[in-house]
Amino acid sequence: MSGKQRVVSGMRPTGKLHLGHYYGALKNWVSLQDTYECFYFVADWHALTTEYAHPQIIKESIHDMVIDWLALGIHVPKSTIFIQSSLPEHAELNLMFSMITPLSWLERNPTYKEQEQEMKDKDIHTHGFLGYPVLQAADILIYKTHKVPVGIDQVPHLELTREIGRRFNFLYREIFPLPDALLTETPKILGVDGRKMSKSYNNALFLSDPPEIIKEKVSQMFTDPNRKRKTDPGNPDICNVFTLHKLYSHHDDVAMINRDCRVAKIGCVECKKKLAPHLVEFLAPIQERREYYAEHREAIDEILAQGNKRAQGIARQNLKEVREAMGI
Ligand code: TRP
Ligand code: SF4
Repeated sequence: MSGKQRVVSGMRPTGKLHLGHYYGALKNWVSLQDTYECFYFVADWHALTTEYAHPQIIKESIHDMVIDWLALGIHVPKSTIFIQSSLPEHAELNLMFSMITPLSWLERNPTYKEQEQEMKDKDIHTHGFLGYPVLQAADILIYKTHKVPVGIDQVPHLELTREIGRRFNFLYREIFPLPDALLTETPKILGVDGRKMSKSYNNALFLSDPPEIIKEKVSQMFTDPNRKRKTDPGNPDICNVFTLHKLYSHHDDVAMINRDCRVAKIGCVECKKKLAPHLVEFLAPIQERREYYAEHREAIDEILAQGNKRAQGIARQNLKEVREAMGI
């Protein structure tokens, strides 16, 4: 045993990763690897809760996503990478938890209420979708996890995980430590059109975008909406381009833009032209590693086979304890 605390997190396979995924999750995942024993998995069953009518999208996305993880610096064997659906143990624990989880806990889950309103194009009035957080609790607790790195939107799910764990411990035996969220502190990166960056909004800067595409997308980015003409003074504080400058540009440049934008001394076209090369430079080594893994699919298969095995060893052991505690 490593003696380190354990971290577990999952991501739904919805295609290639973009900058929003990087700042919202992966940057944090990478930095946790030295301090914790980390397990990162592809949550393909969770993707199925909304994509059940087109499951091929999920399958096609898995490799792409794992390639992006590795290219961004998820290190194997420092971390363990695996696929949720390769571990039936998660499904068994999900079943056990579904017996002890009151419906009211699920019905008042804010994510459920929100998605129900938003997803007008999909029918998500399913048992599986309502039970989404129960499966997530199984994913986490089956490893006796201490910390779960997630974005703020996942906090209600983690709270439910703790409640389910607490209830299990109370009803049968103290088996599960109650995990804490490790909140990702990140600048909010918006999409090209100023909305939340998302593949489905068609506004994302993908990690795999080649330089010409990055330049093109940056040139189309929404800026301060009050700045209609170049002669209007701007406000960098509400400009997504400026957020990116703060991440990628030299601080002298950042200071200059911060000053000159407010007095209309620099125009948005010029400001964006300064940004694009920095982004391209940031992405170059990531894309090089991406290229390598894209050409070595067998390496990915091997990594996943090892990861599945390693995770399964722990999951089986803990599930055995669950069965004993419940006497089933
Ligand atoms: N619900 C998470 C999300 O949408 C994905 C997820 C599934 C997860 N199982 C998990 C995250 C376990 C952390 C731990 O982002
Ligand atoms: Fe944004 Fe730069 Fe335009 Fe200012 S000059 S509004 S920081 S793009």
